[in-house]
Amino acid sequence: MKDAATMASPAALASPDAYADAVATAVRAAAAYYADGSTPLGDDEYDALVRAIEAYEAEHPQQVLPESPTGKVAGGAAVGDVPHSVPMLSLDNVFSAEELESWAAGLERRLGRPVAAWCVEPKLDGLAVAARYRAGRLTQVLTRGDGFAGEDITHAADAVLGLPGRLTEPVDIELRGEVLLTQEQFEHANAVRSEHGATPFAHPRSGAAGTLRAKDRPYRIELTFFAYGAVGLPGLDHGELLDRLAVLGANTAAGTAADPRRCTTLDDVRRRIDAIAALRDALPFGIDGVVVKADALADQEEAGSGSRAPRWAVARKLQAQHKVTRLLGVEWNVGRTGIIAPRAVLEPVVIDGVTVTYATLHNPADIERRGLMIGDQVFVYRAGDVIPRVEAPLVDERTGAEQPIAFPQACPRCGDAIDTSEQRWRCVRGRGCQAVASIVYAAGRDQLDIEGLGGTRAVQLVEARLVADLADLFTLTREQLLTLERMGECR
Ligand code: IVH
Repeated sequence: MKDAATMASPAALASPDAYADAVATAVRAAAAYYADGSTPLGDDEYDALVRAIEAYEAEHPQQVLPESPTGKVAGGAAVGDVPHSVPMLSLDNVFSAEELESWAAGLERRLGRPVAAWCVEPKLDGLAVAARYRAGRLTQVLTRGDGFAGEDITHAADAVLGLPGRLTEPVDIELRGEVLLTQEQFEHANAVRSEHGATPFAHPRSGAAGTLRAKDRPYRIELTFFAYGAVGLPGLDHGELLDRLAVLGANTAAGTAADPRRCTTLDDVRRRIDAIAALRDALPFGIDGVVVKADALADQEEAGSGSRAPRWAVARKLQAQHKVTRLLGVEWNVGRTGIIAPRAVLEPVVIDGVTVTYATLHNPADIERRGLMIGDQVFVYRAGDVIPRVEAPLVDERTGAEQPIAFPQACPRCGDAIDTSEQRWRCVRGRGCQAVASIVYAAGRDQLDIEGLGGTRAVQLVEARLVADLADLFTLTREQLLTLERMGECR
C-alpha cells in the first residue's frame, strides 16, 4: 500500500495502476472503518483519496473498477444482514463555502424556487444507528451497514444514554441518529480499559464502534445517542421533527451549544456553520462537520434522494482533528519540579492547518498502556490550543521494524536517580534537579569556568539551600562556602 500522502493527491492517479492502488487502499480503509472504527488513513486522507478516485473515474469511465468505493454507502464495506425499513443513506460532502453555495444553487435549480428555510446542525462523529420502537418500547437497534441492511446491536442498547428503553408515547417508530462516546465517556472508557489490561481506544469513534459490537466484556462503557431523524413520523418539517423526537424522550443536539438552528438565508447558514466550527473544541462530543438540511418537508420530498444520499442535505466537512503519522522517537524532558515527561517526536503532519512535530505522551505508564513503539504509525489528536497528543498505534500497520521505547535509567538532566514510585516519574532531586544541572552547566569550562564546581559541590550547595538558581552563585560568601563539608581554607 502506498503512503497516504502520495495517494491522496489527485495528480498521483496518473495511471491505471495508481488508480487500482488507490481503490485497494480506500476499500481496505473503509472495511476497517466500518468494522471497528479504525483506519490506516485519517479522515482527511480518506476523503481526499475518494475525491482523487472520483476524478480519475470521471476521466476514464471505462476503467471504473467494480469494487470502487465511489457512489456507495459506507464505501462498499457491507456489514450486517438485517434489512432496513427505509435505506439509511449517507450525505454528500462539501469542503468550502464556495462548494456549499454551488450545492445550494443546484438544489434550488432542481426545485425551481428558493429553499424555504434551512436547518443547520452538528455532524456528530460517531456511528449511525436505527432504533426500532413498537408501542413506545425499544425492540431492536441496528447499525447502518451498507445502508440497506445492518447488524443487530440490540445487546448494546442498555449502555446507550439518550436512547430510551421506553418512549413517552406508545408509538411505532424508528429513531435514526448517531451513537458516540462523549469526550468524558471516552476518557472514562480508556481508564476502565487500562484497569482491565485492554489497549486504549485510538479515538472516540473507534471506541464507539468497538463498544457497540462487543459482547461479553467484563466492564461496561457508556455511550450517548443523538437523534437526527426518524421513520414513521410523517408530515413534519425537519425542525418540527427534532422537537417531536425530544418530546418522545430521545436525546437530540438541542440544548447543546451546537443546537440545530433554522436559517432563512444562505448567509445565515454560513454564519451558523462558522459559529459551530468555532465552538468545536469546546463541545463535549466530537463533530466532523456541519449538516445543512432543507427544513421544509415539501422541499425535501420534491428534491428526493439519489442512491447514496438525499439531495436536500449536505455535510460541510471540517478538517479532521485526528491524523495518522509516524512516531520517530521519544524525548524525555525534566520539568521545573523534577517531573520527567516523555514527548513524542513525530514525522511532521498538518492537523487543522497547524504542523505538528511533537505530541505529549503523559507518562511512562501511559506509553506502556498504549503499547507504543518507535517507528509506529500513530493516531495524533490536536484541537485548538490543546497540546497535541498521541492516542494509539496502528498495530495492524506494523512492519516488524518497530523498536521498543527506551525508558531512562537515570535523570536525563542531572544524572541522579529517578523516583518511579508514582505514575509520573520524577528526578529524586525534585526542584533541586534543575538548579544542580544549571549550576554544573554554568560552571563548565566553556561558560564561567569555575574551578572545583562540579556535580558534587553543586548538589551540596543546593541541598544546603545556599543556591537555588544560577544568580545565587554571585552572592555566595566565603563564610557560607566554609560551612560545606570537605570545604576548607586554602593554605
Ligand atoms: S442526516 C438522510 N444528520 O453522517 C439523511 N447525518 O456522512 C442522512 N451524521 O450517515 C443522515 N450527524 O451517520 C444526518 N446531523 C446529522 C448527522 C448525520 C452525523 C452522520 C450519519 C450519516 C453520515 C454521513
